[in-house]
Amino acid sequence: MKELMQSLRDAAIRTISETADMETLEAQRVKYLGKKGELTAILRQMGSLSAEERPVMGQLANRVRAEIETALDERRELLSKKLLERKLETEAVDVTLPAKQQRLGHKHPMYNVLDQIKDIFIGMGFEIVDGPEVELADYNFTRLNIDEAHPSREWTDTFYFTPDSRILLRTQTSPMQVHAMETRPLPIRIIAPGRVYRKDEVDATHSPMFHQIEGMVVDKGVTMADLKATLNLVVEKIYGEGTVTRFRPHHFPFTEPSCELDIRCHKCGGKGCPTCKGEGWIEVLGAGMIHPKVLAGCGIDPDVYSGWAFGMGLERLAMGEYKINDLRLIFENDKRFLEQF
Ligand code: PHE
Repeated sequence: MKELMQSLRDAAIRTISETADMETLEAQRVKYLGKKGELTAILRQMGSLSAEERPVMGQLANRVRAEIETALDERRELLSKKLLERKLETEAVDVTLPAKQQRLGHKHPMYNVLDQIKDIFIGMGFEIVDGPEVELADYNFTRLNIDEAHPSREWTDTFYFTPDSRILLRTQTSPMQVHAMETRPLPIRIIAPGRVYRKDEVDATHSPMFHQIEGMVVDKGVTMADLKATLNLVVEKIYGEGTVTRFRPHHFPFTEPSCELDIRCHKCGGKGCPTCKGEGWIEVLGAGMIHPKVLAGCGIDPDVYSGWAFGMGLERLAMGEYKINDLRLIFENDKRFLEQF
């Protein structure tokens, strides 16, 4: 039995020292030391030994086990070292390879224009506010004094969510006037930029989604003179000092009086050219004094307070500023186009 154990040890240590990978090494451990392994098999025969021999054999068995374990540990360490070395060799990073190009995006040209306008208004004490694009017809139309028969309410012009025409995608940012008057303390000085939606076919000047900037002031003693002075100032900041403006009478249900603001064409100086379509003037925005009915509908006494409001198309402004001749370019996100700005 002693010889058996010694030859087992010699055989084990030899094979272990020749083992080349971790899986085989583990198989060796099971083969020699496992519950059904060779050492266990020899120890099963202990029963046939005499009482004196048994502890001697037991000690020997422990020593053999310890020796084989040490051999396994040493081999394991060696193999893992070799494994690591091989890994470091094969996975070496070639620091001379050219780096992958990082492609950073940048601000969309239209948002450059929006930022410019925000800055102008912030400088005059206005706050920037945001509001829902999914809107109640009540806010988009009714409370803006737009009557039930008004053509802009037609299903052919407006995206409705519900058959009762109660919920829609806002067709203008003007509902923000009502939201502001409902929620903000007086006086109010805000602009509210955002997306608006109309059922328009896509072409060079139309899109079912575009952006407007709503602006409004409500305070005591606000007059049309304030509207004109403020908007003239804004126009000069956008289009340059000395830009000539014209306030043309117009109609909006929620302002009275209403007007549209034109600037003299900066391209031809008013003689008429393709930029102004021969008109000599370019339309910039719609505006007016907030209708007393709209004020009163928001709980503001029109005998004490008055206000003005305007609504401006953002895409058209950006197109003018960057000389973009097709609205679709703004939304197509073609990098060759966007990278120019
Ligand atoms: N909401 C109007 C439009 O979309 C513009 C406007 C806003 C007019 C505010 C007057 C006052 O055409």
